[in-house]
Amino acid sequence: MRAIYITDLSGHAGESVTLKGWTANKRSGKGIYFIILRDGTGFCQCVVDEKQVAAGDFENAGKLTMESSCIISGKVVKDERQIGGYELQARQVSIISIAEEYPISKKEHGVDFLMDKRHLWLRSQRQWAILRIRNAMIFAIHRFFQQEGFVQADAPIFTGNAVEGTSTLFETDFYGKPAYLSQSGQLYGEAMAMALGKIYTFGPTFRAEKSKTRRHLSEFWMIEPEMAFFDLDMNMDLIESMLKFVIKALLAECSNEFKMIGRDTTILENLVDKKFPRLTYDEAVRIIKGEQDVNGKNAIISLEEELKLVQEKRAAIKVEITDREQKMTVPGMKKGEIAFNQTKIDNLKNELKDLEEDERNIPQWINSAKTFEYGNDLGGSDETVITRLFDVPILVYNWPHAVKAFYLKRDEDPRWAKGVDVLAPEGYGEIVGGGERETDIGLLTEKIIEHKLPMQAFEWYLDLRRFGSVPHSGFGLGLERLIAWVCKLPHVRETIPFPRMYGRLEP
Ligand code: 4AD
Ligand code: MG
Repeated sequence: MRAIYITDLSGHAGESVTLKGWTANKRSGKGIYFIILRDGTGFCQCVVDEKQVAAGDFENAGKLTMESSCIISGKVVKDERQIGGYELQARQVSIISIAEEYPISKKEHGVDFLMDKRHLWLRSQRQWAILRIRNAMIFAIHRFFQQEGFVQADAPIFTGNAVEGTSTLFETDFYGKPAYLSQSGQLYGEAMAMALGKIYTFGPTFRAEKSKTRRHLSEFWMIEPEMAFFDLDMNMDLIESMLKFVIKALLAECSNEFKMIGRDTTILENLVDKKFPRLTYDEAVRIIKGEQDVNGKNAIISLEEELKLVQEKRAAIKVEITDREQKMTVPGMKKGEIAFNQTKIDNLKNELKDLEEDERNIPQWINSAKTFEYGNDLGGSDETVITRLFDVPILVYNWPHAVKAFYLKRDEDPRWAKGVDVLAPEGYGEIVGGGERETDIGLLTEKIIEHKLPMQAFEWYLDLRRFGSVPHSGFGLGLERLIAWVCKLPHVRETIPFPRMYGRLEP
């Protein structure tokens, strides 16, 4: 019998097929096994009924431990209730390899344990879904830029100079000379834009940030378009249309994956037709400090109200969980009912964890918003405070030039630099950073000195201003940050197959 992939089952309803894969889960009843088979392309329940298979095949099914590899043949039956919408009624079961006792069980594991077992954790349904969304996102980003006439052009990873400040450089040895792993391909992108007009780089980026936050990786992927003859407004238009294009593509292609990870996509569906607000740094700070409302909502007052609500909700849930747990021990309760209530209890426990976290965080957010010093860069909590008031990404532009990178163009009002940050809603904060580039070689030189950067390493970059300098702009999109938000994940570590971050080099 011809082996097919689970993803192709829909074209074979009623037929007999063979599936090759791994045992993701197994339940047994009287004379029957229910095996969830996964083959990389999807998941499918295979029913092995004693009465339908030879004794040896039934025995084989019995031997299958979690993650054992096997080959199952049988009849494809449409069943909407099943994962993937189809079920296989097995006729034959053969073993490829029996797995040792699998370290990841259904019970709750700590994140550190799962990260240690990342090479196996990737096989779980949730990780499978996230990595497929990552794949669809990468493909959609390429489609967008290719369709807009951009050329993908890659920047080197070994570099001789810093782009985003010297404090986050990974130093390495390049034939006896110090070299750094790329923090950003932007400066090379500018050179390539002068050659090719509109380019984008798509590659790994390295930042030595000794901070354990839910947004920081030491190695992440960045998409950096750079466009000749683009000003800040054109740059912002491009960012907005790119984000909408990518989100629309994901909604169309990944509904099943979003369902698997429990992502309610309503907010994504709604935002693709809305205009993303553009705020100056000045306005953003007023909003954060509660001096300016957004649609009648005040940042500080709404946080204080939310804190009260969180406290009330938390108090209510505690009682409920105790009740349910007592109920669990009531004798005579049917199995199904216990299972039903167990999911409810698990959900409530998770909700409780979230509420407790909010209860710790909100007072800190309020405090940092109230004490925010005008002129500073926005910190993670400031981003959270402002993005909570919006249900779409916001673009914050015209930043105090002192807190932003050396290459940003000075505004007509010399207090500001023409940078733009995109802040994602639902508390995710910065996903894109970019801006119009400085063309004045005098101002650039001044900035390079002010930032204590080695002038010699930037000579080639200054050449771009000496030979046919033109207005130009670009931005950097953090792939993992966008995935984390779109999937509403608690941490970026789940967005990349093998995360590298402070304290994590293995597996
Ligand atoms: O804001 P950043 O540092 O900007 C640049 O590197 C510019 N040179 C980009 C450009 O204009 N071509 O980084 C850009 C984006 C951030 O908005 C964020 O999404 C992501 O890269 N990013 C990180 N993602 C994960 N972990 C980190 N440590 C990140 N640092 C930045
Ligand atoms: Mg930034």
